[in-house]
Amino acid sequence: MSERKPVTLPQLAEMKLNSEPIVMVTAYDYPSAEVAEAAGVDLVLVGDTAAMTVLGHSSTTPVSLDEMLVLAKAVRRGLRTPLLVGDLPFGSYERSDEQAIETATRYVKEAGCDVVKLERGGASVERARAIVRAGIPVMGHVGLTPQTATALGGYRAQGRTADQAVQIAEEAKALQEAGCFAIVFEAVPAALSEVLVPQLAIPVIGIGAGAATDGQVLVWHDLLGIYGGHTPKFVKRYAELRGQMIEAVGAYTADVRHRAFPAPEHTYSIDPEELEAFKRYLEQSSRASEGAFGGDWSATEI
Ligand code: KIV
Repeated sequence: MSERKPVTLPQLAEMKLNSEPIVMVTAYDYPSAEVAEAAGVDLVLVGDTAAMTVLGHSSTTPVSLDEMLVLAKAVRRGLRTPLLVGDLPFGSYERSDEQAIETATRYVKEAGCDVVKLERGGASVERARAIVRAGIPVMGHVGLTPQTATALGGYRAQGRTADQAVQIAEEAKALQEAGCFAIVFEAVPAALSEVLVPQLAIPVIGIGAGAATDGQVLVWHDLLGIYGGHTPKFVKRYAELRGQMIEAVGAYTADVRHRAFPAPEHTYSIDPEELEAFKRYLEQSSRASEGAFGGDWSATEI
């Protein structure tokens, strides 16, 4: 069997040219990274959705850079071939090009990420350009950008009016011009992707952007049915693991309460002679110290 080689940026560009779908998934820890590796995905994104799926916040904005780096490092340990994308969290890149470069550099140096992702057009285009100039490849993200969902009027599809569609097209082109190697389109009409994707030279990875994008990304917990929170319309669940997890932990709980676990096969043995010797020792020491181990403790003052 031939070993899969690490995914490269030229390979992703070639996949777009050959109309070969690109597969991206999020991951936030070592075991999920190992699964993504085994499943053969092309890119793994340590998304700031971790704020919600892993840390229990109600939006993506509270997660800190340090928290994201811990997760990215764990994912790195589980990956060999997919390209690892570190998501710049809200507040970690907007202030200046220097801040953006510093944050992106930490993802590469400390967490071993191959590339980074940031959200929005506007000032983010300049941040993307600065990071690319510093030598770190950047993925853009337009349409529904969760870090600024409040400003967008909530978690709703974008680009459903001509004005909004023009804005998305301009942002995507500006990000491409700034040197981004790919762009995420989130929650935009499929018909918009059909028009825009062929006009962009770089791969477009869609999430809720229809089938015309060059690739797809799904959030790990959505894909596997782990997350108990709201599931967007664009998610397809490939498993219902939350139900299976509750069932399994419930069965464990019942087993412990009924003393059905651990069974003999889950326990360690001791040579009977060794056990006898140990019991003799206990008896002797108990007699010698009048109860250090087995004696009457009731009269002992503590
Ligand atoms: O943070 C994230 O998981 C993302 C994906 C939804 C693309 O940005």
